[in-house]
Amino acid sequence: MTPDWKDQVAIVTGGASGIGFAVASKLHSLGVQTVLLDWNVEALEKAKSMLESQPLIIPTDVGEEVSVKSAVREAVQKFSRIDILFNSAGIVGQTNLKGHEADADDFDQVYRVNLKGSFLMCKAIIPHMLKRDYGRILLVASMAGKEGNAGMTAYSTTKAGVIGLTKTLGKDYADTGITVNSLAPAVIRTPILETMPQEQIDYMTAKIPMGRCGTLPEVVAMATFILSPESSFTTGFCFDLSGGRATY
Ligand SMILES: NC(=O)c1ccc[n+]([C@@H]2O[C@H](COP(=O)([O-])OP(=O)(O)OC[C@H]3O[C@@H](n4cnc5c(N)ncnc54)[C@H](O)[C@@H]3O)[C@@H](O)[C@H]2O)c1
Repeated sequence: MTPDWKDQVAIVTGGASGIGFAVASKLHSLGVQTVLLDWNVEALEKAKSMLESQPLIIPTDVGEEVSVKSAVREAVQKFSRIDILFNSAGIVGQTNLKGHEADADDFDQVYRVNLKGSFLMCKAIIPHMLKRDYGRILLVASMAGKEGNAGMTAYSTTKAGVIGLTKTLGKDYADTGITVNSLAPAVIRTPILETMPQEQIDYMTAKIPMGRCGTLPEVVAMATFILSPESSFTTGFCFDLSGGRATY
């Protein structure tokens, strides 16, 4: 049976900031029981205080399996089900460096959060979705993963991995009620840009044919559709949000 928004439970990682918080706020406003996961405890508390009928928050490191399992267990204990995973936790790591100049340790850290984190979240949540034969998973990849952004080796590579993960899991569960998709935004103005040199931001923005950054409402509108029960015949797909940059 197709669930109503108000009967659903969503886990949103990176839920304390930017795209994650914007999507969590929308789901929350639709009546979805929304659980915010983030490793920034202070930002998580602030996010909670900004939403009416305050959501459950669980400090979590998505790159650490013990932390992910414990968070999912706590959410299931409280709500008995999980219908939606919006996986937005991510970091950029070093930028504006050529591949041979990038640090191996930085690569490991970006991989751990962006790609292993996406995998661990899906691995922990899918068994709960299988029990009800229903689920909507949306992983935040990036235009960098589709095309490769010069100067962003670890970021582009791990986001390409997220797209690969999407395609694989989409097929793994295509005969169930679970869909697995991803988003490939170009530049969206959020706090993540504060971690990058202006030169790198200018390089990425210049590639957008619409000549502007995307906005949070534009991300939220697309995410809400993909996470809706009505979006039931698309899986294993990476949705473009790039102002015309990607034509495939
Ligand atoms: N803003 C953009 O231009 C843009 C473009 C393409 C893709 N993205 C992707 O969108 C996602 C959200 O980014 P944003 O722009 O909202 O940035 P943001 O920095 O505002 O939000 C990211 C959140 O992830 C959290 N986080 C980071 N590592 C974590 C970990 N190990 N465990 C739990 N939480 C962790 C941060 O604390 C933060 O709250 C990221 O995956 C990012 O790569 C952003």
